[in-house]
Amino acid sequence: MKLCIIGSGYVGLVTGACFAEVGHQVICVDNDQRKVDMLMAGEIPIYEPLLEEIVHKNVAAQRLFFTNSIEKGVDESEVVFIAVPTPPQPDGSVDLSYIERVAREIAMVLKDYRVIVDKSTVPVKTGEKVAEAIRRYNRKGAPFDVVSNPEFLREGCAVGDLMKPDRIVIGSSSERATALVKKVYEPFIAPVLVTDINSAELIKHAANSFLALKISYINMISRICEASGADVEKVADGIGADKRIGRSFLNAGIGYGGSCFPKDIAAFIAISEQLGEPFELLKEVQRINRTQSDRFIGKIREALWVLKGKKIAVWGLTFKPDTDDVRSSVAIHLVNHLMGEGAMVRVYDPKGMEKSQQLNLVPGASFASSPLDAAQDAEALVIATEWKEFTAVDFQELKKRMHTPLIFDGRNLLDPLVTRQFGFDYHSIGRR
Ligand code: UDX
Repeated sequence: MKLCIIGSGYVGLVTGACFAEVGHQVICVDNDQRKVDMLMAGEIPIYEPLLEEIVHKNVAAQRLFFTNSIEKGVDESEVVFIAVPTPPQPDGSVDLSYIERVAREIAMVLKDYRVIVDKSTVPVKTGEKVAEAIRRYNRKGAPFDVVSNPEFLREGCAVGDLMKPDRIVIGSSSERATALVKKVYEPFIAPVLVTDINSAELIKHAANSFLALKISYINMISRICEASGADVEKVADGIGADKRIGRSFLNAGIGYGGSCFPKDIAAFIAISEQLGEPFELLKEVQRINRTQSDRFIGKIREALWVLKGKKIAVWGLTFKPDTDDVRSSVAIHLVNHLMGEGAMVRVYDPKGMEKSQQLNLVPGASFASSPLDAAQDAEALVIATEWKEFTAVDFQELKKRMHTPLIFDGRNLLDPLVTRQFGFDYHSIGRR
């Protein structure tokens, strides 16, 4: 099929590349000419495992193209996907101005029947507004249908998530549009759930909120474990073995971050409020998440007595491993909080240092060339992101390099027993 993806950010670029990978002809549109030029030159603006090679392969195979012309994209394709940003507003609600503008721009170039698919994460009832906007600006009165098709990809394993989805959700009130979108996904082996548009939009917010709920739940359990001498990892294994609960997303730590969970939960709380159904449970999920990193900082302060003037090494800046994304990262919050109390922080991250420096996210922190370099003369080491490579560090050498062998593991990455056998004073989450 001939497909157009408007917006070449995380979702748009990964979706476009994977659609081309399964054989579709894909035009990715972006209004940032610099990004279009980069992509045309084969440069990928984000770090995502596997993405670079499938973009190169499909550009070479003439199945993937980049342009800044919405008209070209709409003219040359049967189905048009909207994958533009929906950033949060100060009150937690979602800024839909990018979606609204693209809907108008599509309407103004629409000549024949097109299916307009919303892939951006949006509050419920947005699809209705998109259809209304297109009707208003569609001077030629060309026929169209609007469909909601939320994505569930995770950063760091986005290509895998898209190529092998758990399910494909199609929110549509038109059989013609449903059939076309089903055809787009024919090459992907996954259950297809066809619903109305509102339900499809709600599935995305509800799914992300439920995952965040699981994380805040296990983080709450971790506090009870600390107070009772139990082990949160064992408790998570014990409850997670129940298929009705599942072990995934029960990893206790310093809290969730990233460009999705914090934003989607705030948006879901705002839209629920607007609909007259305040979602108190999600406010508690937010509160637990917010206070989880504060508790962790409290542990560090208690052990070091005073943070002012202390040399602290921090491993990890990204919001999770296997990505260069530092948006709403708890690790970044932690580094700034420690420096706010006067600590001297030296950081290392395999992929996130460049963006952290470009965006000046940790002003005053020094950047190390390796985990060991970061820990040189440190009075404490904090693990903030669970990059696998941190487990492969030479811990004997680490002990020699540090001023004090004191570790605070905010992601339960290391084995407490082994770490203590190396002579470290080791603290983690929910484990005595
Ligand atoms: C999330 C959803 O998983 C994905 O389906 C949706 O499409 C977009 O939002 P992502 O933000 O990439 O994906 O990251 P995810 O792997 O979900 O992790 C989110 C945050 O939760 C990270 O900060 C991670 O460290 C934290 N987390 C995750 C935990 O603290 N514990 C866990 O058990 C799992």
